Amino acid sequence: MKIVMPIYGTRPEAIKMAPIIAALQKSGTLSCVVTVTGQHRAMLDQVNELFDIRPDHDLNILQQRQTLSSIMTRTITGLDELFSVSRPDAVVVQGDTTTSTAAAFAAFYHGIPVVHVEAGLRSGNLFSPFPEEGNRKVTSQIASLHLAPTSVSRANLRAENIPDGDIVVTGNTVIDALLETVAKNIPFTDPALEEVAASGKKVLLVTTHRRENQGEAMQGVGRALARIANSEPDLAIVLPIHKNPVVREAVLPQIGGRTNILVTEPLSYGEFTRLLSVSSVVLTDSGGVQEEAPSLGKPVLVMRDNTERPEAVTAGTVRLIGTDEERIVHEVSRLLNDQEYYSSMANAINPYGDGHAAARTVAAIESLLGLGDRIEDFSSLY
Ligand code: UD1
Ligand code: UDP
Repeated sequence: MKIVMPIYGTRPEAIKMAPIIAALQKSGTLSCVVTVTGQHRAMLDQVNELFDIRPDHDLNILQQRQTLSSIMTRTITGLDELFSVSRPDAVVVQGDTTTSTAAAFAAFYHGIPVVHVEAGLRSGNLFSPFPEEGNRKVTSQIASLHLAPTSVSRANLRAENIPDGDIVVTGNTVIDALLETVAKNIPFTDPALEEVAASGKKVLLVTTHRRENQGEAMQGVGRALARIANSEPDLAIVLPIHKNPVVREAVLPQIGGRTNILVTEPLSYGEFTRLLSVSSVVLTDSGGVQEEAPSLGKPVLVMRDNTERPEAVTAGTVRLIGTDEERIVHEVSRLLNDQEYYSSMANAINPYGDGHAAARTVAAIESLLGLGDRIEDFSSLY
């Protein structure tokens, strides 16, 4: 059997890789060997535990307040050693984290074909998101198979002269993970969250972590949350906060003492998707959350000036609002208080996948390795 090695290191990669690992483990032609870099620790282990994934190799690279260069060099060094004793027939990397680009490089240097999942996303601005736009462009240059989630991402790859025969449109595996997980209706472990869900109050779900928003912009996000909490006393604001101390230092001092802001540790994926499903409005700078919320019919305000995920903006359920404090307060208040406007954004649409992206991914890998024919592209909404 040919050996396929998924390599990942952060929470979102783990969520999006989990359905692929499950599909690889069921394959009759491929053997799956899982490697994690440990770029995240608690937030990565949380996902592996939920999906019952026990990695075969763990580079354990995390350092507190790690630099991009340390993630890159520690990953390449660790994989260099691993590939010289355990060489897969292909590696699978996901998205645009530094783990994914470093893993792609390490494999490329060893002559191992790279399969890039969630290929072709582009914001068009090399510095936003940073370093992700640069990371994914580099990976596109050295990958052998590009799995684009939508026709929009395929068009981006074509525009960069990636050969058409090397691109397959699969849908995004995040929708596979979401549909499977949300159906389980996983209970909250924190009684305060159960209370919020049972209260019938409107819920504003907030996440923030983007590197380019850290510092003053993120402090402004915190101040905006405090103002919204003051002006909307019946609203429950829930902020599952990223493990990054830089994020905590920017946001938490701005919001202290408000009883209608519930700050939690990062939630398990099961709990987070349940919280998404009981939320009224989502305020985020996350990539994955922009993909998930629309399929649950939740309006999303994205605290960025651009996005590499324009499909849900086109569909009308995602709005780019930037990080200006006044604008955040205004946009949230409008969604909460203007029913007609709210309804215009609260449409359940699924531009990112149909829940079968992992099966297409495995079939495309089989084809790359000479074990099957080319599959049909997923026909996405956009
Ligand atoms: C990384 C990715 C980003 C992705 C995000 C998902 C890069 C450059 N960035 O950013 O693309 O959107 O993950 O969340 O690849 N930490 C812990 N425990 C954890 C996780 C993080 O302590 O489980 C702390 C550490 O102090 C670490 C810091 O958070 O130094 C930042 O983590 P890092 O992976 O460098 O950056 P993220 O902002 O999480
Ligand atoms: N998520 C989670 N628990 C949380 C917050 C987010 O499981 O407390 C999930 C979310 O559903 C999405 C993913 O984490 O699938 C997004 O991760 P993040 O925002 O850290 O990274 P990005 O998608 O921006 O790269």
